[in-house]
Amino acid sequence: MARIGFAYNLKPEASAAPGGRPTERPSGEDAGAVLADEEPPSTGTDHMIPPVPRPAVGAAADGPLLVEEMPADDEFAEWDTQATVDAVADALAAFGSVIHLEATAEFPERLRVERPDIVFNMAEGRGGKNREAHVPAICEFFDVPYSGSDPLTLSLCLDKARTKEVLSYYGVPTPAFAVVESPAALAVLPPGLRYPLFVKPIHEGSSKGITERNLCPTPADLHAQVLFLLESYAQPVLIEEFLPGAEFTCAVLGNGAGARVLPIVGLNFEALPAGALPVYGFEAKWVWDQPDSPLDIFECPAPMPHRLRRAIETATLRAYRALGCRDWSRVDVRLDADGAPNVIEVNPLPGILPDPSDNSCFPKAARAAGMSYAQLIQSCLTLAGERHGMRLRRSRA
Ligand SMILES: Nc1ncnc2c1ncn2[C@@H]1O[C@H](COP(=O)(O)OP(=O)(O)O)[C@@H](O)[C@H]1O
Ligand SMILES: [Mg+2]
Repeated sequence: MARIGFAYNLKPEASAAPGGRPTERPSGEDAGAVLADEEPPSTGTDHMIPPVPRPAVGAAADGPLLVEEMPADDEFAEWDTQATVDAVADALAAFGSVIHLEATAEFPERLRVERPDIVFNMAEGRGGKNREAHVPAICEFFDVPYSGSDPLTLSLCLDKARTKEVLSYYGVPTPAFAVVESPAALAVLPPGLRYPLFVKPIHEGSSKGITERNLCPTPADLHAQVLFLLESYAQPVLIEEFLPGAEFTCAVLGNGAGARVLPIVGLNFEALPAGALPVYGFEAKWVWDQPDSPLDIFECPAPMPHRLRRAIETATLRAYRALGCRDWSRVDVRLDADGAPNVIEVNPLPGILPDPSDNSCFPKAARAAGMSYAQLIQSCLTLAGERHGMRLRRSRA
């Protein structure tokens, strides 16, 4: 019977602090970059971001609410809930004994002592822009096989601009872009960038720093919003051409020639409040999607012509391979003005909320492919085992 290590970051219990926020933080250096890339639960009650929208200056009185910035203390939004940890552990138990290895400061020593046959990794890490690489790097240090992408790919995908550089090198369509590290750099933007432009902090996820104001129709809007983001998020800002077409997110499972795209999830922006921009940003994830009125924005499989589906799948798999993704990942895609799929970003540690009502995209795509939640987790681990020449046998169904 195999010994399966299970690495995760359990969300701290909501404390007595205002808003139910945790009182303890990890000793991470770069607390501003602790969020990852995932979609929020629409019905979950335990996510940590309390909705505190503030009307933006100049918002139309009857238009949708905008927010100027994320509330503070959202560091743990992407760590896992007890329900997710339990559901994944239950799925892994089909292969043998499950050793819980929470990615705390004790993780390296526990891994060294326990030496599981393989680790199922879903740990977001302890902070900083290389946070997702921590657990895989420690596994490599102790020569313990693990599931999912390696530290290089995980860190690369947490840098939206480096990701696009690699995609561009391999000819994977991604919007034209520039990176601005200081206000002075705004004066020397590449001349070819076409308005409207869309801006985002380079190392964030969960739509942190992405509001409707990030769509900049004019140079004056661009300057104002870039300055705001540079100041608020203390990291470079990515400036991209805005893709006006439909949006999709694509779950990929497998390796090499066996990598396949599960049924594509489409975003139906009609579900947003009237007048909202077709952007899956902070407002859509954290303000308009509430437990008592979930936003019904995802459609899977997304209806589309066969040719478009093939084009999206091709772009997705090319991105997956170009970035060196392994076992699984989720790729965000949008259509340009000509209807051609462009890759926006790649998420090698996809969100996997177990409750179907939580609208988590990867499990949703797996269900549409006829896989249960347990089968999805087990497939990921089996793929990792195969990469290491291990045949994991189920000791129970
Ligand atoms: N170049 C772009 N053109 C149009 N919309 C974009 C562009 N980049 C991002 N968006 C919108 O912003 C959302 C969040 O951007 P994304 O890069 O996926 O960040 P996150 O890591 O927060 O998910 C996307 O789902 C999409 O709706
Ligand atoms: Mg995204």
